[in-house]
Amino acid sequence: MELENKVAIVTGGASGLGLATVRNLHEKGVKIIIFDLNEEKAKEIIEELGQRVTYSIVNVADEESVKAGIDQAFNHFGEVHICVNCAGIAPPGKTIGKKGVLPLENFRKVIDINLIGTFNVIRLAAEQMVKNEPLTDDGERGVIINTASVAAFDGQMGQAAYGASKAGVAGMTLPIARDLSEFGIRINTIAPGLFRTPMAAGLPEKIIEKLGSMVEFPKRLGKPEEYAKLAQFLIENSYINGEVIRLDGGIRMAPR
Ligand SMILES: NC(=O)c1ccc[n+]([C@@H]2O[C@H](COP(=O)([O-])OP(=O)(O)OC[C@H]3O[C@@H](n4cnc5c(N)ncnc54)[C@H](O)[C@@H]3O)[C@@H](O)[C@H]2O)c1
Repeated sequence: MELENKVAIVTGGASGLGLATVRNLHEKGVKIIIFDLNEEKAKEIIEELGQRVTYSIVNVADEESVKAGIDQAFNHFGEVHICVNCAGIAPPGKTIGKKGVLPLENFRKVIDINLIGTFNVIRLAAEQMVKNEPLTDDGERGVIINTASVAAFDGQMGQAAYGASKAGVAGMTLPIARDLSEFGIRINTIAPGLFRTPMAAGLPEKIIEKLGSMVEFPKRLGKPEEYAKLAQFLIENSYINGEVIRLDGGIRMAPR
């Protein structure tokens, strides 16, 4: 799909990987609505980028909230072609930790936002996309990109909930691609390694250095722009569908 003048939803677009995606797509002529809970940051970005960008305060895990956001996107831009799902949380928690067993509530919250929230946005964005006239000779109507994590495959200690949520995102990619194929909507998932974003900034610098040294090559954390470039490629290349792509410098995470 060509980017110019298309309309994109970017969840989690107020920070990190989502923000880098917003900046890149904006530069390429895409109209964007950010779905995020952080209004202050969303406003700052709108002010910085100016035209063609707006935001909606959306909790991806909440049905009514996402419906309202999609309505806002439609009312503002009249159509939706692209959806990049970056909203997510990564609170650590060992199955049995210093304070005892991991509260079920903590596990559920991560699944609720990362997995159910991603599906919630996918299904409601796709509902809009099916209304589009075909954009290409192939009949393409929309493109969806999700964000899993290498923790979907080699999660570390303390990542039971996070790893499960991201494995769910990876696992639903192909069945959703199959479900949406009759409508000309593609879906792919990026599984990032460790990236320099506010999420990773919460980790102690020592751990960041150690994780950086685990990367095969290049021996550093990923740059959010590198994620944004892959997202762009997945939108533009219409033959990639139902795929989960690791973007990780070849890292295989150690247990801790
Ligand atoms: N940074 C990394 O190293 C890394 C690695 C692998 C995967 N990821 C995944 O990439 C995605 C983006 O991560 P990031 O590092 O940019 O994080 P970030 O914390 O910088 O940004 C996440 C954004 O999501 C928003 N958000 C959180 N919960 C939300 C909700 N319920 N509804 C709407 N918005 C919500 C936050 O307000 C924030 O703006 C996440 O899904 C994360 O799990 C990140």
